[in-house]
Amino acid sequence: MSRIAYVNGRYLRHAEACVHVEDRGYQFSDGVYEVIGVHEMQLMDEDYHLKRLQRSLAGLRIDMPMPIASLQQIIRHVVHRNILHNGMIYIQVTRGVSRRDHAFPNPPVRPSLVITAKRVDEKRVLRVVKEGVSVVTMPDQRWTRRDIKSVSLLANILAKQAAREAGAYEAWLVDEDGMVTEGSSTNAWIVNQDGLLVTRPLGQEILPGVTRRVLLEAAKCEGIDVVERAFSVDEARNAVEAFISASTAIIMPVVKIDDRIIGSGRPGSISVKLRAAYYKAAKTS
Ligand code: PDD
Repeated sequence: MSRIAYVNGRYLRHAEACVHVEDRGYQFSDGVYEVIGVHEMQLMDEDYHLKRLQRSLAGLRIDMPMPIASLQQIIRHVVHRNILHNGMIYIQVTRGVSRRDHAFPNPPVRPSLVITAKRVDEKRVLRVVKEGVSVVTMPDQRWTRRDIKSVSLLANILAKQAAREAGAYEAWLVDEDGMVTEGSSTNAWIVNQDGLLVTRPLGQEILPGVTRRVLLEAAKCEGIDVVERAFSVDEARNAVEAFISASTAIIMPVVKIDDRIIGSGRPGSISVKLRAAYYKAAKTS
């Protein structure tokens, strides 16, 4: 079955889904995106993702391309037209198409909207979750508004590539004080020596992950002690457990940080418990 993408009002075969050469997303990374997980044809935490989309757009002074209800309808069409059982919906909104000039188009142009579907092999994900992954730490070279889910991901992709070349799954980015901000495309968590689940508090330094938010709710329901504070690379290396979170994979246990094995070198019990609890706490639609 061929993939279908939504591009500015039209449903197109994936191979033919194109945007204009002067789309500001293409020329300036002048846009934002969302990734919504799809599990058994259900959207996971759609409302939180769409709220964050609105927040990111407001942060860059880009208009919503259409009312939320219309957007929700298109997202559902894309899920159904692609018969997407498990995977992700990618939504990208840019400031639109305009003759190249750094300042905003004046008069304003219509924002561009692209929605695509991508299948994920859940069995493969579960195999990785069972084994755990390794991460490597490196300096966080991103801009200072990481709370905006901008398509400008140069520092993120360079970090991810460096991790892959080091044989690791993810890069943990480290601020000037030696504290972990987050992963290149995930939020970062540890369980410290006191058995406390720790993740960095929200702020401009990290993306407010939807999975992070739902996991915090789930941890409270499960009676897991959790604190939102920054943690250092040193504390992470001495953690008894660690994991990363993001839509689609939800939790990936981390069993190695740089050259240091975490805990027993196997996924920890809190990571496993919390991953199951996520599916109870998440809202599907
Ligand atoms: N990445 N931090 C960063 C920098 C991210 O890019 C992401 C998501 C997260 C986790 O956010 P959430 O739980 O809302 O997925 C944290 C997506 C999946 C991506 O870029 O593909």
